Amino acid sequence: MNNYSAIAPKKYSEIYEIIASLINNETNLIANLANTCAVLKEHLNHLWIGFYLVDDNDLILGPFQGPLACTRIPIGKGVCGTAWKNKESIIVPNVHEFPGHIACNSLSNAEIVIPLKKDNKIIGVLDIDSIHFNAFSEHDKEQLERIIALLN
Ligand code: SME
Repeated sequence: MNNYSAIAPKKYSEIYEIIASLINNETNLIANLANTCAVLKEHLNHLWIGFYLVDDNDLILGPFQGPLACTRIPIGKGVCGTAWKNKESIIVPNVHEFPGHIACNSLSNAEIVIPLKKDNKIIGVLDIDSIHFNAFSEHDKEQLERIIALLN
């Protein structure tokens, strides 16, 4: 556990409820991803929160909140491409120690990536960057996976 992770369960449950009700009222994926980013950014306040979406053998930049970001990430590259290839979430306590990390913003020091699934297929990833080392815990991973499953 560290100083920055494990926000109160109540906060994650509130985020879950807000996103659930947004998605309940809209079927368009891009609109739902955009609002999901907005809600996560407002409540979690990390440096960068956004989605990359599968486009052939690359991930292409999707809806996000935060500074500008690289647009295309090949499968297996960086934290995002690795999470996609391995079909599992990745917590990176220190991005400078992750082999092949793609630095979109020099302020980022930690990262979490959660695969986004639709009908049991990975269609993209949620990527969150923090300025704080060790920003993300297992609790954050579990809660974010639960929230992202709403988009299924
Ligand atoms: N750091 C990511 C690239 C995306 S940006 O952080 C927004 C990676 O290594 O895949």
